[in-house]
Amino acid sequence: MSKQFDVVVIGGGPGGYIAAIRAAQLGMNVACIDEWKNEKGGPAPGGTCTNVGCIPSKALLQSSEHFEHANKHFAEHGITASDVKMDVSKMLGRKDTVVKQNNDGILYLFKKNKVAFFHGLASFVKAVDGGYELKVSGAAEETLVARQVIVATGSNARALPGTPFDEVNVLSNDGALRIGAVPKKLGLIGSGVIGLEMGSVWRRLGAEVTVLEALPVFLGAVDEQIAKEAKKAFDKQGLKIELGVKVGEIKNGKKGVSIAYTNAKGEAQTLDVDKLIVSIGRVPNTIGLGAETIGLKLDERGAIVVDDNCRTSLPGVWAVGDVVRGPMLAHKAEEEGVAVAERIAGQHGHVNFNTIPWVIYTSPEIAWVGRTEQQLKADGVAYKAGTFPFLANGRARALGDTTGMVKFLADAKTDEILGVHIVGPMASELISEAVVAMEFKASAEDIARICHAHPSLSEATKEAALAVDKRTLNF
Ligand code: FAD
Ligand code: NAI
Repeated sequence: MSKQFDVVVIGGGPGGYIAAIRAAQLGMNVACIDEWKNEKGGPAPGGTCTNVGCIPSKALLQSSEHFEHANKHFAEHGITASDVKMDVSKMLGRKDTVVKQNNDGILYLFKKNKVAFFHGLASFVKAVDGGYELKVSGAAEETLVARQVIVATGSNARALPGTPFDEVNVLSNDGALRIGAVPKKLGLIGSGVIGLEMGSVWRRLGAEVTVLEALPVFLGAVDEQIAKEAKKAFDKQGLKIELGVKVGEIKNGKKGVSIAYTNAKGEAQTLDVDKLIVSIGRVPNTIGLGAETIGLKLDERGAIVVDDNCRTSLPGVWAVGDVVRGPMLAHKAEEEGVAVAERIAGQHGHVNFNTIPWVIYTSPEIAWVGRTEQQLKADGVAYKAGTFPFLANGRARALGDTTGMVKFLADAKTDEILGVHIVGPMASELISEAVVAMEFKASAEDIARICHAHPSLSEATKEAALAVDKRTLNF
């Protein structure tokens, strides 16, 4: 006997579980199907983000940052911490607990919102009168019929051709988050977001880290001035980043991994490491979904083709998050999930792609929203720029973390904020003010005239806004 629902969501990551909750809030009869298994084979909703992404990476970043502070920065506060040791298995255990709290939290939210949860792999069987029939293959087989389907099946790590992940020596994000002991030498391919975050974790814990990056520029999507400042900080920390390399043959042996590559000067090199993390981007995931069975259109990258409103090529089938175009970010997936649920309910859900913030949780953190200086130049937009260094911010001095700056870019004529770029302490939190400001179409002067608490890092934001008009007060 099939079970009938108004909406079935496939995938319980941030795109899927949020869409399910919002649809249920709007009075619909909703099911969410997710196949992720915990180590005991039980359900572990939350997707990549909760299980092998955002949450566990931030847990390890926090633990490793504490370790680095105890080793390198406590002394300047007058604290003696001798013989500081890292118990890696305890650190990993803490991370697993944090992950489980989030898995359990989502199961609780499903109950609270009366979302029916099915643990297993969902696949399309056929279109039926007024909807779609879906099969759930799990501990128990189920057949569901849905009037509307939201696909939120996420993404998987991209492997280098000819070098599959064995999660022992050659690691994806999954293996990178559970290395059992600090490797002496760690290699990473790709100095994008994962390369920098994971490279930072294991460098702080004592690994000698080398990152090999194909592009000749560091963090090409980031504002150039901000990327330069970040690179300086990473160089100082000893995170070795080689740009403009061409990776050749990779040998995965018993003793470790040997990577042949050509450096930016065209010289042949070899990097021998104990572990290699490959972080060269992610691919949309539709494995086992049965997209072809019902004729759901995919693009050449394997992403589900959607319009601006997340409508797929089939009526009543929507798709959100990493499996569709756009940035692969948890908060982007969530916003799309909410918008789709609202559209199904006849409302006007909306996602503003121009104000999606990006954060890289390294130390210093890097965060931005809106356009970079190089994009404004390319777009031929006349702009004014204002920067303020954390070096001149009282709170940053008191924290002992004065690296970096806040940078504002505003329209030369109207003063409307076009982009805000931050490298420095708590950039991840500071960027929210800029997002709010841009959503409300604020001018730089609006921020400059708002009272900010003293002493706080947010005063650097106000000062950068003042700098647009060349009238900083503290620099
Ligand atoms: P996912 O989270 O991938 O969830 C998809 C779910 O669908 C999975 O549980 C999967 O098992 C399930 N599924 C797939 N197919 C089926 C099927 N046929 N049937 C049933 N279930 C299925 N983003 C940020 O914004 N901030 C960060 O700090 C951040 N850190 C990250 C760190 C790492 C190491 C990685 C790898 C990613 C990080 N991301 C971060 C990106 C973020 O994890 C993704 O953008 C986000 O998880 C996408 O959400 P989603 O719901 O589209 O897909
Ligand atoms: P990425 O796209 O951020 O970076 C990949 C890097 O690898 C790029 O710099 C690219 O030039 C390089 N590269 C590609 N092929 C290469 C090759 N053959 N040799 C050498 N370098 C090569 O992808 P990453 O780091 O894998 O992360 C995937 C996605 O996950 C991110 O784009 C982001 O959307 C998400 N994520 C978000 C985080 C956050 O928001 N803080 C944290 C981690 C991941």
